[in-house]
Amino acid sequence: MSDKEKTWRVIDVLNWAKDYLQEKGIESPQVVIEWIIREVLDWNRMEIYLNHERPLGNQELAQIRSYLKRRVQGEPLEYIFGYTEFMGLEFKVNQDVLIPRHETEVIIEKLLRIYSDSDNINVLDIGCGSGNIIISLVKLMENASGIGIDKSSKALEVARQNSRTNGTGEQITFLQKDILKDYAPESKFDLVISNPPYISKEKYQELPQHIKEHEPKQALYPGEDTLKYFRRIVDLKDKILQKEGLLAFEIGGTYQEKSVVEIVKEKFDEIEIIQDYLDESRGILAFS
Ligand SMILES: C[S@@+](CC[C@H](N)C(=O)[O-])C[C@H]1O[C@@H](n2cnc3c(N)ncnc32)[C@H](O)[C@@H]1O
Repeated sequence: MSDKEKTWRVIDVLNWAKDYLQEKGIESPQVVIEWIIREVLDWNRMEIYLNHERPLGNQELAQIRSYLKRRVQGEPLEYIFGYTEFMGLEFKVNQDVLIPRHETEVIIEKLLRIYSDSDNINVLDIGCGSGNIIISLVKLMENASGIGIDKSSKALEVARQNSRTNGTGEQITFLQKDILKDYAPESKFDLVISNPPYISKEKYQELPQHIKEHEPKQALYPGEDTLKYFRRIVDLKDKILQKEGLLAFEIGGTYQEKSVVEIVKEKFDEIEIIQDYLDESRGILAFS
């Protein structure tokens, strides 16, 4: 993208950048360049296809070049642009919070189906990060409310801001708590959900560089004991969950299903596994 004499149209940049990103080993090159163009031109997805022939000015090209460079150097676009989408809602993100993953959405969708005829559900989200889980649930359920807790005060700042911008500021309280140490809520919840750190040391080392360099380690790696959050939360069952409550966990994949089910079985009889779009076991629901 350097020939000064050449006129670069949207379609030229799309084609050139797709090859370039692929060469550099960047995943989903088409999605990446489309998002960059949309951001620079302030366009929606449709506008890209309707305006393929639109020539780009020097300043626009320079901006696109700079975003491409940052992405190729490893920075996720979500952090470069400062936001992402989850359950059709927009969430601010920065390096203090994990970028919400689309596979988590299968668990939220399942819970929304379970609670489709219920109202006033009270939710506890343990390790809420950007707040994506509890904010989506409270926003998309009838008259729901709840508490999001996290160890990180910086993550909680992001979660509070996301709650305000998504219109759930009045329904959700965010508290700085370490679930392994000091959480004793004043009341019990209908739904307790957690996507805790669950990645083993070996798997953490194998993660792509851009995750290890940019996303918070404490959101992913729980320490030597990979299952300690699941054990702790199940142990707290009688303190945090209503008699007819539901506990929902996100897990690392099918490889982790058996060990987490073993833990959950200690205190729950009815258990359901949720598969994600890649057919990996992604969620465990336990009904009390
Ligand atoms: C895997 S991230 C999940 C973030 C978000 N809920 C999501 O699904 O994208 C785990 C979160 O747990 C938080 N966390 C780690 N240890 C914790 C602890 N001992 N007590 C409370 N939160 C903790 C991290 O700060 C991080 O935000």
